[in-house]
Amino acid sequence: MRRLTVPKIRQRKKDGVTEEPLVMLTAYTARQAQLLDAHCDLLLVGDSLGQVIYGLPSTVPVTLDMMANHAAAVVRGSYHSVVIVDMPFGSYEASPQHAFESASRLLKESGAAGVKLEGGAAMAETVAFLSQRGIPVMGHVGLTPQAVNVLGGYGARGRSDAEAEKIVGDAKALDEAGAFAVVVEGVVEPIAIEVTESISCPTIGIGASARCDGQVLVAEDMLGMFERVPRFVKRYEEIAEIIAKAAETYAAEVRSRAFPGEEQTYQPK
Ligand code: KIV
Ligand code: NA
Repeated sequence: MRRLTVPKIRQRKKDGVTEEPLVMLTAYTARQAQLLDAHCDLLLVGDSLGQVIYGLPSTVPVTLDMMANHAAAVVRGSYHSVVIVDMPFGSYEASPQHAFESASRLLKESGAAGVKLEGGAAMAETVAFLSQRGIPVMGHVGLTPQAVNVLGGYGARGRSDAEAEKIVGDAKALDEAGAFAVVVEGVVEPIAIEVTESISCPTIGIGASARCDGQVLVAEDMLGMFERVPRFVKRYEEIAEIIAKAAETYAAEVRSRAFPGEEQTYQPK
């Protein structure tokens, strides 16, 4: 199976219609990518790894090095999905030129196919600059976690008319600038639908609407790795319980000398 491409993803939405929704999950490691790859169209190396892997309080402190290293691992662990890597806070906002330097580094060091960046109309010039120079860009509107210090939290967006209008305008600006897809995060459903109907490239929803052209979740969230998750997460497994139980049994067996057993022990000859 040859790896999917960004143009193939973009073409899944034709004349405003996406027959089969796009499937995206986050992945940060090679083994995780191996397990998720065959089931996805896109793997996102999200800057959510700041919280999920590094225990940081937000995505704000995430660095280009972290993103490049995890993206390289995910590319090595996958052969089917398109791998997209998040541009971390501070690596793209100042100018299109700075964004190009950062994005090209991410692609060169990881082999990922494209980048994702947060922000709407204010980033349109940058999206055009990158995509006209060989770097496919996925946009991200609505709840944009890198702006937590401006937004003041992670609540749903688009509840006021002004906010709703801004989100739709942002998505349109990204679409016109050449984004190949736009993540719509944490917005009330009518706005997610309006965005999906008013832009030509696919929308990928998270806490948005089933009517988006695709969906994404943080893999650890949907696997049940964390006790507390946002309301928009569906837990498909309770993996934290499985891990804790295995550690508990292992600890008990070590302490009682039940582990290692005969099968795990080398003997001469
Ligand atoms: O960082 C991330 O995981 C993301 C997705 C939740 C869209 O940006
Ligand atoms: Na992100």
